[in-house]
Amino acid sequence: MKMLRATLWIAACLIAWSGVATAADEAKAEAKAEKKASDALYVGVKKCKMCHKSEKGGAQFRIWSESKHANAYKELASEKAMEIAKEKGIEDPQKADECLACHVTGHGEPAEMFKSTFVAEDGVGCESCHGAGSKYMKKKTMQGIRDETLKAEDYGLVVPTQETCDKCHNEKATGGKHVDFKEASEKIAHPIPEGYKRGAAAGDEKEEGEGEE
Ligand code: HEC
Ligand code: HEC
Ligand code: HEC
Ligand code: HEC
Repeated sequence: MKMLRATLWIAACLIAWSGVATAADEAKAEAKAEKKASDALYVGVKKCKMCHKSEKGGAQFRIWSESKHANAYKELASEKAMEIAKEKGIEDPQKADECLACHVTGHGEPAEMFKSTFVAEDGVGCESCHGAGSKYMKKKTMQGIRDETLKAEDYGLVVPTQETCDKCHNEKATGGKHVDFKEASEKIAHPIPEGYKRGAAAGDEKEEGEGEE
């Protein structure tokens, strides 16, 4: 009798304990999911270049590097920049928050959000519009997002909208102009060619040079 009672008591404890454990696990899993996208780090354009440089795949890196966005930090050292800065009493635009805010990726975010591969010289890089890349940049993840088996937002990949451009192209911008998302996106377009499938063409994988610079 005593033995049975003790056994029942232990069983009851185990059941209660497992309930606590499940609740705790659930809370942990939830916190983890929330953290997943939000603790993504900026990796810099060189990381994206590894997989987005081939002409067959749409040469996103080349197209970006020929755009003004790629030059946005360097532009802050131009004569025109110095003129604008002088009027505002700013000595060095490349060191001033008032200018860097829109001429560099992620300016103002905490220092621990930037990997050592990130450099300000890249100006308005891929991650200015697509979000910090450390969580989505794995090949399997990227392919999953492309194939819609994974959700972009779970990995911090931003699908650009009007709001994305408004962060910088607003009334406070140099020139004070808003841009229309559709029209302005066409000017910087870097699409994946229709029907392109990575690895489908011979030598495609090699050309991408994944994993190395
Ligand atoms: C290890 C390789 C790899 C790296 C690094 C990488 N990507 Fe990708 N990315 C891919 C693949 C594979 C696809 C699927 C389409 C394709 O094959 O081009 C893709 C697709 C995308 C897409 C389209 C997603 C969609 O919904 O269609 C975007 C946007 C993108 N990448 C941005 C980036 C950015 C920004 C970086 C740098 C932070 C980056 N990628 C780094 C491999 C990579
Ligand atoms: C709110 C965002 C924002 C801030 C802050 C900002 N810029 Fe700009 N800047 C832009 C945008 C957007 C453009 C592109 C404007 C266009 O082409 O319509 C630009 C363009 C420029 C250009 C090129 C202009 C040309 O005519 O070719 C220079 C130079 C420049 N900015 C300097 C500065 C300096 C210096 C500061 C700091 C005093 C600064 N910017 C602050 C958003 C900003
Ligand atoms: C100024 C903002 C901006 C920057 C910087 C930028 N992109 Fe994009 N990217 C966009 C927009 C806008 C689209 C189109 C989204 C759409 O079609 O809805 C896009 C689409 C893409 C696509 C998917 C194209 C497709 O056909 O589905 C890839 C891949 C991509 N970008 C990679 C990159 C890479 C890599 C870089 C840096 C080398 C980069 N982007 C820099 C705004 C940007
Ligand atoms: C982080 C700030 C930032 C964001 C976000 C941003 N831009 Fe820009 N954009 C700039 C700056 C700064 C310049 C001017 C760079 C220069 O002249 O040196 C610029 C220039 C441009 C230009 C001038 C033409 C050219 O040849 O590049 C176009 C077009 C443009 N942006 C479109 C867009 C679109 C579309 C989006 C949203 C999908 C966008 N930008 C998001 C900061 C930004």
